[in-house]
Amino acid sequence: MTFIVNQWYGAIWSQDLGDAPVARRLLGKPIVLFRTDDGVAALADVCPHRFVPLHLGKVVDGRAIRCGYHGLEFDRTGACVRNPHNAGRIPPAAKVESHQVAERHGMVWIWMGERDADPSLIPDYSFLDSADPQHISARDHLEIRSNYRIVVENLLDLSHASILHDGILGNDEALKAESEVEEQDGDLTVRRYMRDIPAPLLLDLLYKGDGSRVDHWADIRLMGVSNLLNTVGIAEPHTGRGPHGTGMRGAHILTPIDDATTLYQFCAVRMNPIAHDPERDAEIRDQLSRVRKMAFAEQDGPMMEAQQRLIQDPAVDTSRPALFDIDLGASRFARRHDKMLKADVSA
Ligand code: FES
Ligand SMILES: [Fe+2]
Repeated sequence: MTFIVNQWYGAIWSQDLGDAPVARRLLGKPIVLFRTDDGVAALADVCPHRFVPLHLGKVVDGRAIRCGYHGLEFDRTGACVRNPHNAGRIPPAAKVESHQVAERHGMVWIWMGERDADPSLIPDYSFLDSADPQHISARDHLEIRSNYRIVVENLLDLSHASILHDGILGNDEALKAESEVEEQDGDLTVRRYMRDIPAPLLLDLLYKGDGSRVDHWADIRLMGVSNLLNTVGIAEPHTGRGPHGTGMRGAHILTPIDDATTLYQFCAVRMNPIAHDPERDAEIRDQLSRVRKMAFAEQDGPMMEAQQRLIQDPAVDTSRPALFDIDLGASRFARRHDKMLKADVSA
C-alpha cells in the first residue's frame, strides 16, 4: 500500500463528529477521531495495552479518550495521561500515534505525514461556508470499493456523464462538448463546454424545469492529490459561459481508506440561484441531495468497483489501454500523481 501522506485529506464531515469517538480507516490505518476542548483529535485507533480499538471507549473531561477495556486515558497528542489502576504507573510504551488535524469548511482534515502540516494548504472549499442553507445539499459520503485513483479519474473525465448518467447529468447532444485541460498553481482543471443542447435533468431542475435548450459548461478542478471542485452552469443558448446563468458547485473530497477502497465525501451548492419560493427551494435542495447520491452510489460506484475487480484480475492485461481525447485529464493526473509520490517519499 502506497499513499501520498504529506497532504490534507478529508476525514469526516464536522456534522458527523459529535460527542462520541468515531472510527475511520484512512490511508490504510485505523484512526479514531474525537472532540476535545482544544479541537478535534486523531489518534491511532489501537490501545497499546491489549490492542483493542480506542473508539470503543469515551471522551473524558474534554481532553482525553478513555479506553473502554481497562480505562487508560490518552490525550490529543497520544500521551497516556492516566492509568486508573493501583499507583497509576505509566510505562513508556503506553502511548499512541497522533496525527495533525484541522477543521475547516465543515470538514475535519487530517495530515498523516511526518512533515509539519501547513493549514494554508487545506483546499479552498469556502463556497461551502457562505452557502445559504436553502441552497446547499446534504453533506454526504459513500464508501467506494475501488482505489482512489480510479475515483479521481472518474471525476476528471466528465464525458461519462452523457452515457453513464444519461438523462440526469448528460445526454447525447452533450457528447459534442469542446474540452480543454489546464494546469495552474498546482491545480489541474478539465473544462467542458457544450453549446445549445437540451438541459440535463439535474441542471434543468435549477433552471426553467421545462427541458429548454441551453449552453452548458462543466469544469472540474483537482487540488492536491484527491480533492476536487466541480462547477457546472447553464445559460441561454449562444450566450457563452459566464455569471449570467445558473448552476452549482460541488465538493468531491476523496480519501483512500485502503488500497482498494475510497471514502467519497460530497456536497453541492447552487450558484446564482434563480429565485423561487422557499418551498420550491427546499424541494430542489432535497432533489439535489438525492439524485446526486443516487448517481454516485448506483451508477458511478458499481462501474468503478467492477473496473477495480478487472484491473486486479490476473487474466486481464491492462498494460496497453486505448486512449482518447477524453482521457487527457486522467493522463495528466497519472503523471502528476507519480511526481507527487516521488516528492512525498524523498522529502
Ligand atoms: S486494552 Fe486499553 S486499557 Fe487495557
Ligand atoms: Fe459520474
